[in-house]
Amino acid sequence: MMTINNKEEVASRTSAQPANKTQPVLRAPNLDDAKAVHALITASPPLDVNSVYVYLLLSHHFTDTCVVAELDNEIVGFVSAYVPPKTPDVLFVWQVAVHERGRGLGLGKSMLQEILQRPGLQNIRFVETTVGPDNAASRGMFASLARKAGTEINETALFEGHHFGEQAHEDERLLRIGPFTEK
Ligand SMILES: CC(C)(COP(=O)(O)OP(=O)(O)OC[C@H]1O[C@@H](n2cnc3c(N)ncnc32)[C@H](O)[C@@H]1OP(=O)(O)O)[C@@H](O)C(=O)NCCC(=O)NCCS
Repeated sequence: MMTINNKEEVASRTSAQPANKTQPVLRAPNLDDAKAVHALITASPPLDVNSVYVYLLLSHHFTDTCVVAELDNEIVGFVSAYVPPKTPDVLFVWQVAVHERGRGLGLGKSMLQEILQRPGLQNIRFVETTVGPDNAASRGMFASLARKAGTEINETALFEGHHFGEQAHEDERLLRIGPFTEK
């Protein structure tokens, strides 16, 4: 059973500190995490479930911009993100998942903040992501990230239902958060 004491505790932990029963460790993913990440995404609707191969790629090529949260040897949180090739000051956040037992405790936001504080990402000034129209948790999390950084969110159209073809899918609107000055 996952228990997290409070938001400050989640936010203050990094992989430099040893795991214990109540505090998730945030660290870069590795190949051995891909199956567990796939299972977490599968258990986290409305996220699209990609193949295990995709999570292997993320854990191999994009470790600098992805994070897992591990508690008692269990993956309880995951963020996939990357720096788009043409916009080196943008971190594009693809999927964020927190195990349902650990939601509402600050873990989602802490994972995003952990990535932004990494040494190689000091040039990031904007976070971009896409959200469905009704995903209140996702919108709440990104709004909180913007509030905490004292910056703004700009929302525009990006991927529309028809772009997904036969597969029924809601519009995914682009949120652009920033500029981040101090992370
Ligand atoms: C979205 C998700 C990752 C949020 O993770 P979380 O750890 O519960 O979020 P946090 O505890 O860090 O919350 C951060 C902020 O979001 C807000 N928030 C969280 N869940 C919310 C909800 N259901 N409705 C409204 N706001 C919400 C919190 O109030 C908090 O704001 P605060 O910092 O001002 O108090 C989690 O709900 C999840 O995995 N959902 C299923 C998958 C998904 O939809 N992912 C997002 C799309 S990429």
